Parts: sequence; C-alpha cells; structure tokens
Amino acid sequence: MNEKVKAYFKNPRNLESMADATVKGTGGDPGCGDYIELYLKIEHDVILKASAMVAGCPYAIATTSVFTEMIAGKSLDDAMMISGDEVADFLDGLPETKIHCSLMGPEALRNAAHNYIMARICTPSMA
Ligand code: FES
Repeated sequence: MNEKVKAYFKNPRNLESMADATVKGTGGDPGCGDYIELYLKIEHDVILKASAMVAGCPYAIATTSVFTEMIAGKSLDDAMMISGDEVADFLDGLPETKIHCSLMGPEALRNAAHNYIMARICTPSMA
C-alpha cells in the first residue's frame, strides 16, 4: 500500500451518513461485502456536500474518501465524468486486484443521479 492510500485509509474524509442528504446512491454488492452508500446534498444540480458509508477493504475506504472530495462542489454532470481511473491516479495508482474498489464511488454516483432525476420527475417541487 503506497503512502497516499495509507494516509487516506488512516484519516478518511467524509465517511459518515448525512441526515439532510438530498439523495442517496449505492455501489458495489452487499452480498459479497464490498458496498458503499453515497450521500449527496444537492442544490441547483450542484453537489454541495458528499459523504459515504463504506463496507470494504482499506482501498475501498481510501478511494471512496477521495471520491467524495473530488465530486464536492461539482455539478452532477461534471461529477459523473470522474472515473475510477482518476481516483486511482490521484492515489498514485492501485494494485490490479484493487481497481474494483475505486469503481464503487462512480457506480454509487450514477445510482444517486438516477434517484435524483426520478425524484424530480415524481416531485415537481424539487425541480
Ligand atoms: Fe473489494 Fe477492496 S472493496 S477488495
């Protein structure tokens, strides 16, 4: 484990639930133990705040932590452009067997965006 991953694992950012989240999304598979819940506070389609709860290995904790930092302050559209590769690059690379850990954040964001859009369709006051 490199120093940057170690630092984020030992001192993760934004790994908590969010009581006032606008929307939640999930990634991974709770059946096999790798799973995240991503919470977003959104205003005018901009992510004001992001946090997550993680069940997974130290790499899942580090990559999810980084992902919440990377998407905060971005529009939903821009945040959805952030890939697992960018998260891995930020952390100076991940071992091949840990690449999937970095994919749960983007997957949960896609799920959250879907939930957000569906809620807007069904709740016109959110638009
Ligand atoms: Fe499966 Fe990291 S979450 S090995």
